[in-house]
Amino acid sequence: MKTAIYPGSFDPVTLGHLDIIRRASIMFDRMIVAVLHNQNKRPLFTVEERMELLRRTTRDLPQVEVASFDGLLADYARVQGACAIVKGLRAVSDFEYEFQMALANRKLNPELDTVFLMTSAKYMYLSSSVVKDVAMHGGSVVGFIPDEIIPDIERRARKEG
Ligand code: COA
Repeated sequence: MKTAIYPGSFDPVTLGHLDIIRRASIMFDRMIVAVLHNQNKRPLFTVEERMELLRRTTRDLPQVEVASFDGLLADYARVQGACAIVKGLRAVSDFEYEFQMALANRKLNPELDTVFLMTSAKYMYLSSSVVKDVAMHGGSVVGFIPDEIIPDIERRARKEG
């Protein structure tokens, strides 16, 4: 069984993330979408809330599991028996950082490769920060995130704003 991990902060999940999840899920038998800690970020949603939003938006994909992990991604991949990390590349500017992480993860776990999917052109500009910024300023996030989680983001943005 080929297992892959799609890691990220997912604060919150966007249509760009879901595009990558859908396309990658047909390449592997098991896809773990892992909410991991990014030490450079202060999140809007708790890990549990982010996992719930992810579960709700991926429930039609039987290969997909949603999980979280607190340590190194390379160790988590080993524990899960994963052969690949999946990442989306949006622009050349993503490349340097992703290249560095891919090499570091392979050094930490030599059985692990990183597979990059090009983000669909229509989601090139998207990030979780853009979604939060638009919502915090009262703008519409239709077309940025799945419709079913729009009320969750708007409610949280009103509370924080
Ligand atoms: N569509 C929309 N947005 C996308 C996207 C896509 N296809 N691909 C990336 N993004 C955005 C995300 O929304 C996020 O936006 P934000 O900065 O506004 O939040 C950003 O690109 C990616 O950030 P994040 O989700 O935090 O992922 P990351 O690539 O910075 O990596 C971890 C984060 C959690 C995977 C990484 O820190 C990690 O592996 N942590 C565990 C500890 C570890 O092993 N560290 C050593 C790593 S070598």
